[in-house]
Amino acid sequence: MLPPTVSKLLALILIAQSSLALPSAQEWQEFSDSLSGRLHKALPLSAPCFPVVNGEKSTINPEECSVIQSNYTVADFRSVRAPAYMFTQWETCQRTEEKCLLDPTDPSNPLAYTVPCQQGYVSEYYVAVSGPGDVQKSFLFSAKTGIHLSIKSSGHDYKGRSGSKGSLNLWVNQYRPAKYDLLYIPNFIPEGGERPYAHAITMGAGVPFEDLYKFADENNLTAVGGYASTISPNQHLAFVDVRPSIFIQGGGHSILSPVFGLGVDRVLQFKIVTPDGIYRVANSFQNSDLFWALRGGGGSTFGVVLESTFLVEPRMTLQVASMSFTRTSTNYQPFLRLLVDESYKWGTEGWGGHMGPTNLINVNPLLTLEEATESLKNVSEYVTAQNGSVVIEELPSWEVFFTKYVTTAEASVGVENTLMGRLISTDLFTSKSGKTTLTKTMIQMIQQYAINPYIVVGTPFLFNGTANATSVTPAWRKALWQLGGHTGWQFNATVSQIRTQYEIASNIAQLMRDITPGSGAYLNEADLYETNHEGMHMDWESFWGPNYPALLAIKKKYDPHSLLDCWQCVGWKGAQDVRYDCYLP
Ligand SMILES: Cc1cc2nc3c(=O)[nH]c(=O)nc-3n(C[C@H](O)[C@H](O)[C@H](O)COP(=O)(O)OP(=O)(O)OC[C@H]3O[C@@H](n4cnc5c(N)ncnc54)[C@H](O)[C@@H]3O)c2cc1C
Ligand SMILES: *[C@@H]1O[C@H](CO)[C@@H](O)[C@H](O)[C@H]1NC(C)=O
Ligand SMILES: *[C@@H]1O[C@H](CO)[C@@H](O)[C@H](O)[C@H]1NC(C)=O
Ligand SMILES: *[C@@H]1O[C@H](CO)[C@@H](O)[C@H](O)[C@H]1NC(C)=O
Ligand SMILES: *[C@@H]1O[C@H](CO)[C@@H](O)[C@H](O)[C@H]1NC(C)=O
Ligand SMILES: *[C@@H]1O[C@H](CO)[C@@H](O)[C@H](O)[C@H]1NC(C)=O
Ligand SMILES: *[C@@H]1O[C@H](CO)[C@@H](O)[C@H](O)[C@H]1NC(C)=O
Ligand SMILES: *[C@@H]1O[C@H](CO)[C@@H](O)[C@H](O)[C@H]1NC(C)=O
Repeated sequence: MLPPTVSKLLALILIAQSSLALPSAQEWQEFSDSLSGRLHKALPLSAPCFPVVNGEKSTINPEECSVIQSNYTVADFRSVRAPAYMFTQWETCQRTEEKCLLDPTDPSNPLAYTVPCQQGYVSEYYVAVSGPGDVQKSFLFSAKTGIHLSIKSSGHDYKGRSGSKGSLNLWVNQYRPAKYDLLYIPNFIPEGGERPYAHAITMGAGVPFEDLYKFADENNLTAVGGYASTISPNQHLAFVDVRPSIFIQGGGHSILSPVFGLGVDRVLQFKIVTPDGIYRVANSFQNSDLFWALRGGGGSTFGVVLESTFLVEPRMTLQVASMSFTRTSTNYQPFLRLLVDESYKWGTEGWGGHMGPTNLINVNPLLTLEEATESLKNVSEYVTAQNGSVVIEELPSWEVFFTKYVTTAEASVGVENTLMGRLISTDLFTSKSGKTTLTKTMIQMIQQYAINPYIVVGTPFLFNGTANATSVTPAWRKALWQLGGHTGWQFNATVSQIRTQYEIASNIAQLMRDITPGSGAYLNEADLYETNHEGMHMDWESFWGPNYPALLAIKKKYDPHSLLDCWQCVGWKGAQDVRYDCYLP
């Protein structure tokens, strides 16, 4: 057993962490012994298919390779494997082209095997975290040996923050507290508090959304969480595998957020091991500064979260609208204009949804079916005139909605994919010139870059949040949409082809910034190369706005030696750090 605090010890033994350190064989052995078999070595997911792995001749394993080939683009398969990521550029070292990938369009394509399999970005060692002790030992090991740490749950991160070349990976994906996976607590009182919250669910960091939604429904409850829709053809879905405990830390938007708030608005308590080695409860009454930081500061920054508790709602009836039509060279333009024109009114009525140039899926927990039908009249008439399909219906629960519209549409992962996004200020929707500007920008995305605008109506538009209760940028609360778009490339793309796609994403992000000065971006779904374009004095203004200095102070308090660091995270070491050697500069 470790002492309750390792912070003093850490301070004494911490060695310089600026370069890539390698523990000795003996240090690895001792560490492994202390973890009773939970330290594992990892090769890249597709290694069994390759004749040469990490420079050495290897024996192809036809059975294992065939399982990998047939499940290469299956989210359920990837999300429970430590070396697998949803977006496969994060298994590769993009700068050096070291990789071990298959062709996702045809996983048996022999072209993939003509290059040697290399470890790339994938951690050689990971700890299958089974409790706070494993995390405490890992922080200590990192401090002692200088090896970098990374934390991974299900690997949906768009920005490579759940891995790092040469790091020891803390894999929390399977973690459930000993006594329960999910726990419904009526009248939940945060530890140290007094006021009870009518309905709350506590869950381990390894529990996926799919299980949460089902569990909530079985208890006649609604969990407010996210998903991605099939709206754009290059949008790859795999949301049900995302871990709610992770999603919450960066913001967490849902199409129910307009009425019920963001994930950060609904969390009541975290249990977390901070890098000083202490297992803490963070809520409004204990470690309240840390709690505030975890409500928007982002993952992999303040510690390893092992449990979270958040508010849930009673089961609710939803009005659901699903519309789509076939695109012609021009018919998407008036549709986009209609979405822009109607969005402010829809916002005041409680609609959330995902929309694109030729389709939408919107939900509303406040209106009746009649009101919902009337509210969407203009847009349904337009879609009908395009010979498109219009369904507006009342469904008895989120679970029924999710099963009908989302689960059935789950598409593949295992591809190279990136995105950009921006919070679109409400004031753009209230003036004629604002509406015209926004519509033009979306049309430009399509015409100049062939990228579909992906509109998330998931800001806390009607939600009455408490001032400064969360650390997300306040821009969330002055915005009506999160506007984004996805792009990708082939598994065998060259560095310059990859760079081109990142540049396109950044160019589009800049178009969006130009029309929304002073707004912000969602740190989980923003341009990989987000800039502090407004020229404010502080870094990462777009993710946290005026909250950044307080977040940085809290980072320094709980992680004084920067044992955790990730791309564009609070207090990060910067792109020059050895941790980011695989990102394209
Ligand atoms: C298809 C798809 C749909 C999405 N839809 C939505 C949506 O509807 N709404 C929304 O808000 N977001 C959405 N996202 C973004 C998503 O919420 C984030 O990518 C999320 O953080 C990924 O969670 P994960 O479990 O896969 O985490 P990972 O990718 O494993 O990790 C994400 C980050 O959290 C860190 N981390 C992981 N575990 C822990 C832990 N226990 N403690 C501390 N840090 C940790 C990692 O180091 C990394 O920095 C979507 C993403 C995808 C790919
Ligand atoms: C992998 O693919 C095989 C063959 O298609 C299938 O039977 C199996 O269930 C898949 N495994 C997982 C974990 O998805
Ligand atoms: C859920 O509600 C139904 C209908 O009111 C009721 O029969 C059932 O017992 C409830 N289930 C739980 C777990 O509360
Ligand atoms: C918001 O709360 C945090 C954490 O308690 C604190 O550090 C910060 O100064 C507060 N910000 C404002 C503007 O009050
Ligand atoms: C439909 O559009 C017209 C013209 O812009 C507008 O006046 C009207 O309020 C809209 N109807 C609804 C139901 O939103
Ligand atoms: C819709 O279908 C009708 C009947 O087939 C056809 O006349 C009309 O041109 C179509 N309209 C559009 C916009 O495709
Ligand atoms: C927010 O507060 C206002 C004023 O108190 C109230 O009318 C409204 O219903 C609240 N909104 C929600 C979504 O609870
Ligand atoms: C990638 O592979 C495809 C065939 O699968 C081929 O058409 C394409 O030219 C290759 N691209 C590069 C950059 O080699």
